[in-house]
Amino acid sequence: MERFPDAENQEPLLSVTVEPSPAETTKFRVRNLTKSSDAGTPILHGVNMDIPKGKIVGIIGPSGSGKSTVLRALNRLWEPPSGTVFLDGRDIRDLDVLSLRRKVGMLFQLPALFEGTVADNIRFGPQLKGKKLSDEEVHRLLTLADLDASFYDKRGSDLSVGQAQRVALARTLANEPEVLLLDEPTSALDPISTQNVEDVIMKLKKKQGLTVVMVSHSIKQIQRIADVVCLLVDGDVVEVLEPDRLSEAKHPMALRFLTLSS
Ligand SMILES: Nc1ncnc2c1ncn2[C@@H]1O[C@H](COP(=O)(O)OP(=O)(O)O)[C@@H](O)[C@H]1O
Ligand SMILES: [Mg+2]
Repeated sequence: MERFPDAENQEPLLSVTVEPSPAETTKFRVRNLTKSSDAGTPILHGVNMDIPKGKIVGIIGPSGSGKSTVLRALNRLWEPPSGTVFLDGRDIRDLDVLSLRRKVGMLFQLPALFEGTVADNIRFGPQLKGKKLSDEEVHRLLTLADLDASFYDKRGSDLSVGQAQRVALARTLANEPEVLLLDEPTSALDPISTQNVEDVIMKLKKKQGLTVVMVSHSIKQIQRIADVVCLLVDGDVVEVLEPDRLSEAKHPMALRFLTLSS
């Protein structure tokens, strides 16, 4: 009589590997995020947003629409209500705020460097945790931010805005963040510095799997680097689109903004 093969040694009839693709992992989940001004005027009307891990999410929209306000909620520069912002599935209100800000670094329109040298600036974050970065580590961070070794000893006042922005980026990267929040980081920079910063951001995504949320006033910039674009109008996310399909926006204000900006 024919023996059935041992079940454990049997080849599966159909081999299916179920691996969650990085695109399916949500880094930040924002649910019904609201904010009003002190005078009671609504600023955010219940923003919903999923920031996929390892992707660059662009946020665009008219000025005053709440882009910076949304971004600043993600690392608690203001306190979002409980149950509205989740990092890796955890309510950020339940996290230690300093470790949250290490994990979620932020760059602003204008870099503000501290007194001292570029190296001092880069060492600052780790030092707060009692860790002294070696010269090699500082140089590695300079390289990562596309700055050569000569910057090590320079002072903030000797740098152009574009160079200072890259030092600010290196200083943020020293904390080994998982997410970067960028609030119009190139709007004060010339085209070449802008391209340098964009190149660094794309490299960080590709090589380190960094998640990036970038507010930009430039639709062209967003189309160059973002994987997905959120259109914010009047405190609401009115469209989520692929960067090359912005023309498919349907919301009238979004459409108007896109037409006028392009
Ligand atoms: N702390 C605050 N108190 C009062 N109003 C604020 C505060 N923060 C932002 N606003 C207002 O909220 C709106 C959205 O601001 P903001 O997020 O800076 O917009 P954007 O970055 O899209 O230009 C603006 O009308 C701004 O004046
Ligand atoms: Mg802003």
